[in-house]
Amino acid sequence: MIQFVLNSLKIIQYQILYYFLGFFAIIDDLKNREHNKFNIVSKRGKVAVITGGARGIGLEVVKKLAQCGMHIIIGCRNIEAGQKIFQQQIFSDVSIEIYELDLKSFTSVSRFAQKILFRHNQVHLLINNAGVMFVPYEKCEDGYEAHWTINYLSHFLLTELLLPVLKTSGSNNENARIINVSSCAHEASPLIDFDKISKRKGYIPTAAYAKSKLAQLISTKYYDKKLSNSNVQVLAVHPGIVDTELFNGTLLKKTMPWILRYICKTPEEGSRCITYACVSPKLEGHGGYYANCQSVKNLPYADDDKIQLELYNTSKVMVEHFLM
Ligand SMILES: NC(=O)c1ccc[n+]([C@@H]2O[C@H](COP(=O)([O-])OP(=O)(O)OC[C@H]3O[C@@H](n4cnc5c(N)ncnc54)[C@H](OP(=O)(O)O)[C@@H]3O)[C@@H](O)[C@H]2O)c1
Repeated sequence: MIQFVLNSLKIIQYQILYYFLGFFAIIDDLKNREHNKFNIVSKRGKVAVITGGARGIGLEVVKKLAQCGMHIIIGCRNIEAGQKIFQQQIFSDVSIEIYELDLKSFTSVSRFAQKILFRHNQVHLLINNAGVMFVPYEKCEDGYEAHWTINYLSHFLLTELLLPVLKTSGSNNENARIINVSSCAHEASPLIDFDKISKRKGYIPTAAYAKSKLAQLISTKYYDKKLSNSNVQVLAVHPGIVDTELFNGTLLKKTMPWILRYICKTPEEGSRCITYACVSPKLEGHGGYYANCQSVKNLPYADDDKIQLELYNTSKVMVEHFLM
């Protein structure tokens, strides 16, 4: 009974926190609208890999990278649906490959990486974009909770598998880049309780989403430091509060979807800062955390060297069977 009351209080606490974070993030998006701009940069001949590129913000990122002339490799769950999207006239000039990727499964991540490495000896850009939000408790096939697996750990595995090719694809003139699509929601997670990551007991979807986004940010900071002497840089982006299917499970989208249309960014607006992080020459040599095409502050917890190393080592153990 006490446990139930404590959990209910925690759920309310997270709910309130999210309303505050969401409110201030929307104000921030409105205030910085003029900065949220993206200029096309020619990247002809370069290869980009993106997870979740067939809808939502990811699809808009793909359109922009295509305008830059990149060859784009998309990972998505339903290849037929993805292929249908890219058969449309507007994509006729886009150089694209689509492969199956289910981030709930490390085997699927590993197969996706193998297909890329089999066909390409260069990858210049990796965008870890796909994600889920506030989903009910689920243990994925490798034993970890769904937010943790889809948003963070599978992307960690994909990063590790593609890192060797990213390292050789970057040059002294132009780094390869890894972009992790995080969120201001990371601020709702005070810490990562490594012992409780995938526990069903006391599971709160809002807390699980925040934790997975915090992990992405910590990992960004760690890799950017670790790779400082190689030709790879790592950035995290908060795309803004964007009206996409990510909100489908929320009360707001179920009851008043029109509100989101008015107060949120469109997916196209949400894709600008991600694409800016991918290609802007201004960011050459700079990692960090960005929103509205500007460097922004993250929770200081994400900058803690000890936490970064603990997350890296823990993650490596979690995926060790799939590292080649
Ligand atoms: N929308 C916002 O306000 C907001 C704010 C901050 C951060 N973000 C972040 O932005 C990213 C994109 O979100 P969005 O708003 O574009 O959401 P969305 O429209 O719901 O798209 C989610 C994407 O993730 C993919 N995905 C979900 N589960 C997957 C799985 N198991 N395996 C492979 N792919 C999977 C989906 O691919 P399928 O086509 O295969 O379903 C889809 O492409 C997420 O990381 C999200 O956390 C969004």
